[in-house]
Amino acid sequence: MVNIAKTETKISIDHLYVRYEDDGTESLRDIHFDIPIHAITALFGPAGGGKSTLLRTLNRLNDMVDVSTRGSVLLDGVDIFSSNIDVVTLRRRVGIVFAQPIPLPFSISRNIRYGLELAGENRRSRLDDAVERSLRAAALWDEVKDRLGDPAIALSGGQQQRLCIARVLALEPEVLMLDEPTSGLDPISTAKVEASLQLLKQDYTVIIAPSSIQQTARIADWAAFMLQGELVEWNRGEDLFSAPRNKKTEDYITGRFG
Ligand SMILES: Nc1ncnc2c1ncn2[C@@H]1O[C@H](COP(=O)(O)OP(=O)(O)OP(=O)(O)O)[C@@H](O)[C@H]1O
Ligand SMILES: [Mg+2]
Repeated sequence: MVNIAKTETKISIDHLYVRYEDDGTESLRDIHFDIPIHAITALFGPAGGGKSTLLRTLNRLNDMVDVSTRGSVLLDGVDIFSSNIDVVTLRRRVGIVFAQPIPLPFSISRNIRYGLELAGENRRSRLDDAVERSLRAAALWDEVKDRLGDPAIALSGGQQQRLCIARVLALEPEVLMLDEPTSGLDPISTAKVEASLQLLKQDYTVIIAPSSIQQTARIADWAAFMLQGELVEWNRGEDLFSAPRNKKTEDYITGRFG
């Protein structure tokens, strides 16, 4: 029987257009789809399709460059572009992890405490709890629990990336966005990061620009195929990969272009 249980929407994107004003590039055109809560949504497609632009729009990181944006993005039903939205709070609620894990030049535990301390938290027990909770959530705790005081820079690449995920989780986001988080990692580290995402989606809404088509097929509960600024197709990951509805999607996932 077809499962028709209604999925709850965390972010609803409607008629979204984004243009970089410095060179006039219209990077997103009429994007519209919903991001379900407690699932992994993957944005995939060839270079320049607008995946990073969309991620940076969802927590308004793109405010820092000269962009013009039209359309709406609703987070729990509230438009993130409305004038009374506090962007600092928005960016805590919708956290982002980038391709290159760049730990701060501190110990493992201080990497995680740091953001909270900046936000004014100075209670030792709260900070210690956050370190353990975040490292567990990022599936790193067992590997580092006996050496929390060691320099973070001594961790492997895959451990550093999970540390960077843990650092964002310490701030208790609702949505976790990751932009090609495994692009520099070996297959074993990549598998560990992917495994941590499977845990994380139970508590968070995960949006990822995967590092490859294969990774998209492995992890996407929902997949959005983006091509030259447009949304070509959006569907449940397994359906999109087993029965693409659009010829362009089919060509891309079967390796005929891109
Ligand atoms: N800061 C910027 N200023 C001007 N144009 C930009 C800027 N950032 C991105 N663009 C342009 O917007 C378009 C989409 O880029 P974006 O980085 O979002 O694509 P992407 O899908 O993430 O690509 P990739 O797979 O290479 O990461 C491209 O044409 C790019 O040149
Ligand atoms: Mg990108």
